[in-house]
Amino acid sequence: MKDYPNVMILDHPLIQHKITMLRDKNTGTAEFRNIVSEIAMLMGFEAMRDLDTVDIEIETPLEKTTSPVIAGRKQAIIPILRAGLGMTDGILSLVPTAKVGHVGMYRDPVTHEPHEYYCKLPDPIEERVIIVTDPMLATGGSAADSIKLIKERGGKKIKFMCIIAAPEGVKVLAEAHPDVQIYIGHLDRQLNENAYICPGLGDAGDRIFGTK
Ligand code: PRP
Ligand code: URA
Repeated sequence: MKDYPNVMILDHPLIQHKITMLRDKNTGTAEFRNIVSEIAMLMGFEAMRDLDTVDIEIETPLEKTTSPVIAGRKQAIIPILRAGLGMTDGILSLVPTAKVGHVGMYRDPVTHEPHEYYCKLPDPIEERVIIVTDPMLATGGSAADSIKLIKERGGKKIKFMCIIAAPEGVKVLAEAHPDVQIYIGHLDRQLNENAYICPGLGDAGDRIFGTK
């Protein structure tokens, strides 16, 4: 697969271990949901490596000093409904003051084309560092269209985080939005004839919410 400068695969052993547990069809809903959240937290740690900091003055038990804190309260997490919701709490545990927006997209089961059904974003959005979450990047349609929508509403500094990606989806998203940094937990082999990721983990939304 062609290398894209805006794509980063987070092949940390802890992330890979947890992805293996997600893939296992015997992993039940509660455990699956917890692991998705844990992976999002681990990925968020890397995705926020470049957050701005500012030095503040504090006093330790020994002396006065200056020490860095995250500058401003300017992050936004935007899960793509439904499955992206499963990643929200893990990232919020790192940046509890982040605002949360929602984009609703569903994939037509026959054409696999994304359809928007909801969009509510923090206002204003322009200055925020935005992390868009969705565990699955399959054809890339849902992520590319969601990010287009967020940009149309004023979003500028956008990152996208997924747990599993197919090469087809990475190409679509990386080429549609070269300014968006894309973080991937694992790059899988390919899509099947139903546009499901193989080996994948099945339907992420159904597994998180127990709807199948
Ligand atoms: C899944 C997944 C992504 C999308 C990925 O959502 O959570 O949003 O499919 O596919 P794509 O890259 O081919 O667009 P789905 O449409 O099944 O909705 P759900 O989260 O409500 O189950
Ligand atoms: N959506 C999912 O939840 N899983 C896939 O493999 C593809 C799209």
